[in-house]
Amino acid sequence: MSLPAVFTRLVGPRVTLDPLRPDDIEPLYAMQSDPEVCRYLLYEPRTREKVEEVLARDAAALRLAEPGDYLQPAIRDEHGDFIGTMYLDLKSVDDRTAEIGWILLPSAQGRGYAAEAARLLLAYCFDDLGLHRVYAELDPRNDASVALCLRLGMRHEGHFVEDMFLKGEWTDTGRYAILEREWAGRRGTAPVA
Ligand SMILES: CC(C)(COP(=O)(O)OP(=O)(O)OC[C@H]1O[C@@H](n2cnc3c(N)ncnc32)[C@H](O)[C@@H]1OP(=O)(O)O)[C@@H](O)C(=O)NCCC(=O)NCCS
Repeated sequence: MSLPAVFTRLVGPRVTLDPLRPDDIEPLYAMQSDPEVCRYLLYEPRTREKVEEVLARDAAALRLAEPGDYLQPAIRDEHGDFIGTMYLDLKSVDDRTAEIGWILLPSAQGRGYAAEAARLLLAYCFDDLGLHRVYAELDPRNDASVALCLRLGMRHEGHFVEDMFLKGEWTDTGRYAILEREWAGRRGTAPVA
C-alpha cells in the first residue's frame, strides 16, 4: 500500500489504534479538558461542546491523499478501553513527509503505551504509506515527550527559540525526526533502495 490510503486499524501486543467513535466522548473530553494534559499542547483545555465537535471531525478523517490530510486515531489498551490519541498529519506528498503526535490520559502514562502506539504508527508510515521522513514538534520543556522521541530513535533536529507566542508567552519549539532508512536500521532490516 502507499498513498492514497484509508486508515482502518493497527494492532500491537498491548495497544490498538483505530478510528475515534461517538462513545469515546467521555474519556476524550476528560483528556482534552485536563489542564495538565494540555499544558504543552497548542490548545487550551477544551469545553465539552468543542470536544464533541472535534470528535465528529476527527472520526471522519481517515483518508490520506493530500497535504493537510490527517488521522487522529484512538489508542486502546488490552481491554479495548480508550487511553489516548495519536496524530498523523500528512505534510507533503512530494517529500513523503508527515508529522506525528501523541496524547495519553494521565492514568495511562508511564507504562510504555505511547511508545508502543508510536511504533505502530511509524511502522504504518514507513512500511505501508512509503513515507521518507516523520517528525515531531514539541515544547522543549515537555520532558515526557522529549524522552518518547529519543526512545523511538528520533534525532533532535533543531531548537527554535521563541518562534511561537502561545498561551501568553513566547515559546520555543523542539523538532525531532526519523527517516525511513533510520527506522529500517533500528529493526535490522535494510531499506529498499
Ligand atoms: C507525552 C506522553 C504521551 C508520554 O507518555 P509516557 O507514558 O511517558 O510515554 P511512554 O509510552 O514512552 O512511556 C514511558 C514510561 O513508561 C515506563 N514503562 C513502564 N512499563 C513500560 C513498558 N512495558 N514499556 C516501555 N515503557 C514502560 C517507562 O519506564 C517510562 O517511564 P518514565 O517516564 O518514568 O521513565 C504523555 O506524557 C502525555 O500524554 N502528555 C500530555 C500530552 C502531551 O504533552 N503530548 C505531547 C505533545 S508534544
